[in-house]
Amino acid sequence: MGSEGGKWLSLPFLIAFIAATLYLLQTLISPRLMLGHEVVKIKRKPDLPLRFGSDGTFKILQVADMHYAKGKMTRCRDVLPSEFEYCSDLNTTRFIRRMIEVEKPDFLVFTGDNIFGPSTADAAESLLGAFGPAIESRLPWAAILGNHDQESTMTREELMSFISLMDYSVSQINPPGIATENIDGYGNYNLQVHGAFGSDLANTSVLDLFFLDSGDRATLNGIRGYGWIKESQLHWLRSIYEVFQV
Ligand SMILES: *[C@@H]1O[C@H](CO)[C@@H](O)[C@H](O)[C@H]1NC(C)=O
Ligand SMILES: *[C@@H]1O[C@H](CO)[C@@H](O)[C@H](O)[C@H]1NC(C)=O
Repeated sequence: MGSEGGKWLSLPFLIAFIAATLYLLQTLISPRLMLGHEVVKIKRKPDLPLRFGSDGTFKILQVADMHYAKGKMTRCRDVLPSEFEYCSDLNTTRFIRRMIEVEKPDFLVFTGDNIFGPSTADAAESLLGAFGPAIESRLPWAAILGNHDQESTMTREELMSFISLMDYSVSQINPPGIATENIDGYGNYNLQVHGAFGSDLANTSVLDLFFLDSGDRATLNGIRGYGWIKESQLHWLRSIYEVFQV
């Protein structure tokens, strides 16, 4: 009897509790869940395919070893003691912006150690900083990894996935149609550059760019060193090459 009475007594309380919970959900949490009211971010894509200009040139700016970490907070290495206090990752950013402005490349390629894992606690933030000038330029760009990129919060696969989703990036995780377990590394892909608009080669690839992941550090027979391009990657490369020869 007593427990039954208790149940009935608690019913209004239970209803009040549910109502309060729903109210809280509605006011505090639901605005964040309603995607319809938020600006959903969609990757900005460059004009593709890549192609030569009408002057017959296709200029590539290649950048390696930015070693970007925490922007203003990360001081430069290998500068004079007098320069140390006034030199940070932002100098790298300025330098790349300036190179883009002066050289007016058609395409940007970042060939590894884009970020410096040991000096950052947030790989995504460092990637956004490192590739900031590329994204601002709205030029198509591609990147692959070095051995330092993955030394913080993302694996090599996560890094390439993130990089492939960044604005104006034409980077790929791995070649379409090849299962991850059938090729070593992350960041193996090829890009085609077509002939100039209006030319006979407008719909034909005249330059093929190949990107291969040369890996992380590796220990072989007890000797510590760096990775290398594996047979599985060469196999993929040969399969493409054979198609080209036909
Ligand atoms: C880094 O940038 C600042 C601000 O433009 C400049 O004063 C400084 O000389 C630069 N440092 C180096 C080593 O280029
Ligand atoms: C390339 O493709 C476009 C669109 O399909 C076509 O109009 C143009 O004639 C083609 N150009 C050449 C050189 O084949």
